Amino acid sequence: MENNRAQWGSRMGFILAAAGSAVGLGNIWKFPGKAFEGGGGAFLLMYLLIVPLIGMPAMLSELAIGRASQSNVVDAFGKLGRKGYSWVGWMGWSVAFIITCYYSHVGGWVLRYVVSYATESRSVYADPLGYFYNMLGYHAATETTFFPVTVILFAFLFLAICAFVIIKGVEGGIERFNKIGMPALFIILLILFARAATLPGAQGGLRYMLSIDASKVSPQTFLIALSQAFYSLSLGMSIMVTYGSYLPRSENITKNTVLVCSMDTLVAVIAGFIVIPAVFATLGPDGVGKGGGFAFVSLAGVFEQMPGGAFFGFLFYLLLLFAALTSTVSLIEGIVAFLIERWSWKRTPTTVITCLLLFAIGCLYTCSQAAFPLKGIWFDFANGVTFPPFCDAMEFLTDRVMIPLCALGCCVFAGWAWKPENVITEVERCGVKFKLVKTYSFLIRFVAPVAILVILAVSLFTGTTLS
Ligand code: PHE
Repeated sequence: MENNRAQWGSRMGFILAAAGSAVGLGNIWKFPGKAFEGGGGAFLLMYLLIVPLIGMPAMLSELAIGRASQSNVVDAFGKLGRKGYSWVGWMGWSVAFIITCYYSHVGGWVLRYVVSYATESRSVYADPLGYFYNMLGYHAATETTFFPVTVILFAFLFLAICAFVIIKGVEGGIERFNKIGMPALFIILLILFARAATLPGAQGGLRYMLSIDASKVSPQTFLIALSQAFYSLSLGMSIMVTYGSYLPRSENITKNTVLVCSMDTLVAVIAGFIVIPAVFATLGPDGVGKGGGFAFVSLAGVFEQMPGGAFFGFLFYLLLLFAALTSTVSLIEGIVAFLIERWSWKRTPTTVITCLLLFAIGCLYTCSQAAFPLKGIWFDFANGVTFPPFCDAMEFLTDRVMIPLCALGCCVFAGWAWKPENVITEVERCGVKFKLVKTYSFLIRFVAPVAILVILAVSLFTGTTLS
């Protein structure tokens, strides 16, 4: 069994693929907006504490579960003798599926913007919000809606690229693709950083990111930082278990965990230091918004006022595109790996059918943004049953409920069911002693589960305010 399993061709291949999964849209457009809301330095400090204290133990456990079980995420828990935990695997698999439906469509929007900046940056500048809505099928001037065929085609193209990489397999596709994509991403990131930091007026933004405003250090900020860390590190899904299962026994899981978490955090922090100072320099502190509209709408004002703006805008969306591609590839691999193993299906048709399904469901996500009033259902104790737009319901369900639940399942499994001793035995298979046994056990058994439970409770009691 073990011998037939795909493996990473090299250590660097794994690290880049895992970092490629972690570094995604979350780092580049979610993180800066949240850092701004959370008071800049205050948020940054909390985030930098959360990653080593909660993110790293959780990632270490997921990788160890994957490698010990040599299995896809659904079967992993059963293989380690705890069939009762297979719901965690199913949940992880389902989260990956639902997230990919919309993640890949947002990838399509990004691809659209790469082309927009290359060919018609003036139209974007003329009316950034109008351009964005128009892409999504709403014509503001006439208040008419239409089927957003162009962006849907871009989403199709985006998924086709991902499918191509997955079909090529673990070493020949995913590893090779990340070996090009990740260094490219770092280079673009550094160029943009140099540009943003030298804009006149950028100091205000740099100062904001480096000073700690005590009034912003609140439980709410902490929770936003915590859920951002889980999302950003790709935890609570099938990804790290699946990627861990392709890791040779000789590999040092601890070292890899530290490297991947550090790379992910570094990219998020640099992205914060690009976007916030750039927005301060061109639009002032009021120009910082959050979420999807922020990356697509507010930033147009930044590029318009920046010398060489269209080129840097193009580079920025290219950066987002690489980030989104490597993350989507990891998500689809998690989905497909299970289908192939469980039912002995062939890689190519499984990938094609999965991608078509993801694409079709994702169309509902894109269309419910502005073109058609498709509704989803949501329940929380603060507001009862509500019918938010389909796209929002989809994101709440995964980010607020399913990811935390699955992450909780993994921590409880590692800390209480399978036990830290077994995690550590797996980690030490590479021959290097794990020195932080007590600290790890404490963090995985108590700190991480309690923190996750709080996120879950807050999501259910405050409704949609925790983003
Ligand atoms: N971690 C990715 C990001 O920061 C998102 C992602 C989530 C990727 C889940 C894979 C799985 O955007």
